[in-house]
Amino acid sequence: MIVDRTRVAIVGAGPAGLLLSHLLAEAGIESIVVDARSRAEIETTIRAGILEQGTVEVLDGIGGSRARTVGHRHDGIELRFAGEGHRIDFPALVDRSVWLYPQHEALKDLIAARLAAGQDLRFSTTVEGVHDIEAQPRITGADENGAPFEIRADFVVGGDGSRSVVRRAVAGRRETGSFREYPFAWFGVLCDAPPSASELIYSNSADGFALISQRSDTVQRMYFQCDPNTDPDALSEAEIWETLQRRVPGTRLAEGPIFQRDVLRFRSFVAGELRRGRAALVGDAAHTVPPTGAKGMNLAVADVLLLGDALRRLLVEGDERGIDAYAERALRRIWKAQHFSWWMTSMLHAAPGSDAFDRQRQLGELRSVTESEAGRRYLAEAYTGWPLER
Ligand code: PHB
Repeated sequence: MIVDRTRVAIVGAGPAGLLLSHLLAEAGIESIVVDARSRAEIETTIRAGILEQGTVEVLDGIGGSRARTVGHRHDGIELRFAGEGHRIDFPALVDRSVWLYPQHEALKDLIAARLAAGQDLRFSTTVEGVHDIEAQPRITGADENGAPFEIRADFVVGGDGSRSVVRRAVAGRRETGSFREYPFAWFGVLCDAPPSASELIYSNSADGFALISQRSDTVQRMYFQCDPNTDPDALSEAEIWETLQRRVPGTRLAEGPIFQRDVLRFRSFVAGELRRGRAALVGDAAHTVPPTGAKGMNLAVADVLLLGDALRRLLVEGDERGIDAYAERALRRIWKAQHFSWWMTSMLHAAPGSDAFDRQRQLGELRSVTESEAGRRYLAEAYTGWPLER
């Protein structure tokens, strides 16, 4: 058994774990980051792509971020319903923007920067146990060769995603939390085609939601609402294009070969405990949001800024107050993001079984938002991101 010792053992080399290792290093705190996935898998898994301005600024501070060069600044989104488009102009409303920059590209930048800085970063390393989190925590598992390892630390952080191993240890005997499942999913496609629009279109149509997003000048990302049990391979390309075209009336979508398709189920979740003793959760290990609000990675970054500062106070200054306040402070933003994601989802999708009243009420809601400057500003404030705290 190989036994290592570090100050903070970070489980998960996603945006949360990698950013945390950077913030800790800046504060002179050593950490080891482990992830069950290979580097190639992390760098190629397709995730969402909207970064709040605050997230882009945090990534700028790490060095090597291509968010502003390879990514694209978006100064607005369009809400489309009842045959009309309504632009939400972010700079005019809140003097902020967002960046379309796929998460796996941000991860390539983060991994390169952390390795260049000498970070101990271990891929294909599976954590099976999280022990003694009340006092002297340890993680155990199997390394990239399948050999058992143990890492002893002063603190363990779970940035290990929605199926978090660390979450089970933090929850103790019984996992608790707040959970909401939605009666629909998104059918997502990646295709070789030029952009159909210069900004994202969130379209509420009578037969369901669609989102027109982009990836580059030659690759596009689009989604449409579907039943959660849909088999991604059951639809022909012609059927996919027919559904997308019908749901974005007023725009002729540029079609092209579809080279990836997936069905994304919708969930909202907040873990009952974000911290216990010498262990804490960040990012998807702590919460899940439906993708409609584009909050996933941004919320992970916000958690990490709070936790990074709390760990600095704890491990450098011996001050417990930051870590004691972590869960309560993080939860304020988490629940605002939960609300925003739920609200965008419910406002834009057609719920199965909804009737004429529901449909007209939803159009009334969309009009109250888009026809009011206060309404547009409320949406812009949330979409571009509330101020980040440390
Ligand atoms: C995406 O481009 O994948 C994307 C953009 C905005 C969302 C969700 C996904 O709200």
